[in-house]
Amino acid sequence: MNNFVYDIPVKVYFGQNQLHHLGEELAKYGRRVLLTYGGGSIKRIGLYDEVMKQLKEGGFEVYELSGIEPNPRIESVREGAEMCKRHGIDVLLAVGGGSTIDATKFMAAGACVDHDPWDFLSEKWAPIEKALPIISILTLSATGSEMDSGGVISNPETQDKIGRMAPPMLPKVSFLDPTATYSVSKFQTACGAADMMSHILEVYFNMEQDLYMLDCFMEGMMKTIIRYTPIAMEQPDNYEARANLMWTSSWAINGFIDGGKRQAWSCHPIEHELSAYYDITHGLGLAIVTPRWMEHCLDETTVSKYVQFAVNVFGVDASLPPMQIAREGISRLSDFFFKTLGLQSALSEIGIDRTHFPIMARKACGKGVLKGFKHLVPADVEKIFEMSL
Ligand code: NZQ
Ligand code: ZN
Repeated sequence: MNNFVYDIPVKVYFGQNQLHHLGEELAKYGRRVLLTYGGGSIKRIGLYDEVMKQLKEGGFEVYELSGIEPNPRIESVREGAEMCKRHGIDVLLAVGGGSTIDATKFMAAGACVDHDPWDFLSEKWAPIEKALPIISILTLSATGSEMDSGGVISNPETQDKIGRMAPPMLPKVSFLDPTATYSVSKFQTACGAADMMSHILEVYFNMEQDLYMLDCFMEGMMKTIIRYTPIAMEQPDNYEARANLMWTSSWAINGFIDGGKRQAWSCHPIEHELSAYYDITHGLGLAIVTPRWMEHCLDETTVSKYVQFAVNVFGVDASLPPMQIAREGISRLSDFFFKTLGLQSALSEIGIDRTHFPIMARKACGKGVLKGFKHLVPADVEKIFEMSL
């Protein structure tokens, strides 16, 4: 293991009936609150009313920004940052899934600078040294945004979708109530599971270091996703299933499992190009790309990792020849995504053809090489897109 710093300073209220702590937590940061949310699911499930009740009882001055879209747009971020400045906001309260929380993080950072918030994400890569405090109330288990410092923002004008992490954007407090996810559709539950799986696989597939303790932890989380996602899809109000998925979403990306690891992610930059060009759901893109990426990276030098994965996560027979075990592991993962969860299995099924593959592959590789599990150049990424068609 390499050296690392373990520092995850997000206070989590996990479980039901915790929202009465909202007022006391917000009050630590001030009285003027910007409440942010998406297209209205929080109103349909009664969460909006509950939050407003707490805010009213606490005597907060509340401003609202709604309509944050999935694959959140830089326009929402600009609007939120502007509102923070105009109203002298003290603290932002994000209620929703990853898109709402991500956009809110960049609003909080944008409120502290004079330049366009897109400068944080464009080639200018403006420093993120400060952000207003953020509190989140999570309604969808997937991205881990509730417990990490990252966010991903889309700019339809430039067809970019870019992510960035910065410690000032870590939520101060996150409320994780599994019952708030009961209303999540089967499709979004499945996409959330694929996203969590990918967050783990991006770290797990690594030939450089022996991370035995962390590998065991990751295998346990993957088994949790495999066990509980079908249950949550069939019984949306199964508390244990929703709770296990919710806590896994946070731990899959909160910095714990990748302690000591330096290698870049692969499937995420590839998927972000699909979302940037076609506005697809992040987890769906990952489900389609991930098994193809695994196939592409499998060879004699990497096979041992696939064997570990197939045997420990899917219980594949360890006595078979290694290449056969590896392929069986990929096949079981594909079956989980496409048969058990019922996600579409090919880009062509969701209206994507090869038109933009060359440019998307170049953009996914950033400065020319994606230094992930196996280093990928644009030709590799184009091949993975072709395999995904
Ligand atoms: O907008 P509303 O009406 O709230 O509806 C949302 C949206 O349509 C709905 N939804 C959320 N909670 C619900 C609900 N519907 C019913 N009941 C509920 N309780 O679900 C839809 C999708 O919401 P969204 O927030 O977009 O989903 P998700 O949480 O998967 O977030 C995806 C975004 O996060 C980014 C992705 O790229 C994508 O833009 N990511 C963020 C990461 C991070 N911060 O570290 C890492 C991830 O890898 C990911 O890239
Ligand atoms: Zn993701």
